[in-house]
Amino acid sequence: MLSFFMQENNIFIIVLVFAYFFNEKSLLSRYETIYSQRFLSIIYSYMHNTGKKESEAGKTQFEMHKTLILIKPDTIARGIVGDILSRIEKKSLKIVAMKFIDMTEELCREHYAHIAHQPFFPKIVSYMTDGPVLALVIEGIDSVRQVRNLCGATDPQFAAPGTIRGDHSCTIDYNLIHSSDSIASADIEIARFFITEEVFQYTKNVYVN
Ligand code: CMP
Repeated sequence: MLSFFMQENNIFIIVLVFAYFFNEKSLLSRYETIYSQRFLSIIYSYMHNTGKKESEAGKTQFEMHKTLILIKPDTIARGIVGDILSRIEKKSLKIVAMKFIDMTEELCREHYAHIAHQPFFPKIVSYMTDGPVLALVIEGIDSVRQVRNLCGATDPQFAAPGTIRGDHSCTIDYNLIHSSDSIASADIEIARFFITEEVFQYTKNVYVN
């Protein structure tokens, strides 16, 4: 019995079980230097989200995944791309692919097929084909939600100050940016705009994603 408690790994597990039950984050943080941040994020996720699943995708909220961003023609024309990239980088999300694309009407119809029946659809087509679009693949823990948080509400009229749309736009007609709304659609949207070789793997910083 005593030898069980003397083993370092077992002590670690006991501490984690204690921390989990008493929601003791400082205790977990102390172990940050010893064990990887990735492992701790799983522990944190249990503390905060036990039983919770991300809506459609059915995956835990702290999973590392990729998401797609389209920076729309108005953002490029207004010269505020740098601010958007800076927000992504400051959030410790990783840009793993980026390129200009010519958003043809055909591509637009495919990408927005789910809203093709809407009366405003022709407006979307002329908006999205009005100039170059900058497409990015972003990687990080919970990146779909994190990027959508950065973007703010789809309609900039309701987007909170401090978000990209909240700070730079006040009309749905020019909402600056598109981001995938689930892990499942991110996978489909990334494959729509990028081939595998265009999505890079690299180490950014050991302390972030
Ligand atoms: P996005 O996030 O790219 O996803 C769908 C897009 O449709 C949305 O951003 C807007 O650009 C556009 N959109 C949604 N609702 C409206 C609307 N009521 N009028 C005009 N455009 C819209």
